Amino acid sequence: MTGATGFLGHAVLRLLRARQLPLRALVRRSGELSLEPDEEVVGDLADPPSLDRLCQGSNSVIHLAAALGAASPARMHAVNVEGTRTLLSAACRAGVERFVLISSVAAGRPHHGPYSRTKRQAERLVIDSPLCSAVLRFPVLSGPQSQLESGVLGVARRSPLVPVLGGAPLRPLPVDDAAAACLAAAQRSQAAGIYTLAGPQALSFAQLARCVLQEHGLSRAVVSLPPTMIYPVVALLERIWGAPPITVEAARAAAAGTPPSSPRAEQDLGVPFRPGVSAV
Ligand SMILES: NC(=O)c1ccc[n+]([C@@H]2O[C@H](COP(=O)([O-])OP(=O)(O)OC[C@H]3O[C@@H](n4cnc5c(N)ncnc54)[C@H](OP(=O)(O)O)[C@@H]3O)[C@@H](O)[C@H]2O)c1
Repeated sequence: MTGATGFLGHAVLRLLRARQLPLRALVRRSGELSLEPDEEVVGDLADPPSLDRLCQGSNSVIHLAAALGAASPARMHAVNVEGTRTLLSAACRAGVERFVLISSVAAGRPHHGPYSRTKRQAERLVIDSPLCSAVLRFPVLSGPQSQLESGVLGVARRSPLVPVLGGAPLRPLPVDDAAAACLAAAQRSQAAGIYTLAGPQALSFAQLARCVLQEHGLSRAVVSLPPTMIYPVVALLERIWGAPPITVEAARAAAAGTPPSSPRAEQDLGVPFRPGVSAV
């Protein structure tokens, strides 16, 4: 597995541990994982020997690592495209049986910017490889310490007013459901090709922000603004705030809403549909 130190990676690690499945994880620095895998390989997607050590003797690779958010376009290309290419080569050399790439619904909308473009390029590399592979396109993921949560809290800590994006509702996917889908894709031979996954509830950005504020006991006014008003503000924040709560590309993708799940997703991946589950 790559990306085990990240938000989704932590949930996958927790699930693998709970099911007592053996795991080898690629980490850039030793000792940063919240739970111990069976084996830690210190390396990088740009370091082929570490990827050979990662893949050696493995049945499946779950590739979560990516450059997202405020990373530069060059970094996104290096990590998301070239990193995936290097990992695929290592997986082929090691005779890995299944390769799972975690992608984003943004990859289905290639015109929003470098994140969606590089994720789509990575998808093509995986689908065109000789390995038996599955690509999971996730919408925004929800759960404690999600980007959604930290973005809303980041604004709420600086302002009495939380401006949010209007536009189409989102269908956030609970991070534990996303982790279950990653594991199912790594284990089920019928899971092949590209799957889009959507969460169980359609919620506006304002509803999501209010849930986050309520869970953290914060009282703030949430104001829904039309996307055309939000983009210039976000562009300004991107320039003055090193890691803004949302990028223009992410705002554009969010405003477009969440596409529905692929018809085969539930059957092939057994993704649980849990109406009424907490959105945050
Ligand atoms: N979060 C979401 O809402 C969301 C929605 C849709 C799709 N996704 C996809 O889900 C996956 C995981 O996202 P996340 O939210 O968990 O991201 P994250 O928290 O930012 O984690 C990114 C992970 O990638 C690793 N990484 C980055 N560059 C690397 C490199 N050069 N070599 C090795 N590892 C590297 C990071 O390692 P360090 O800890 O060392 O930096 C970290 O473990 C990504 O592919 C993302 O595109 C996420």
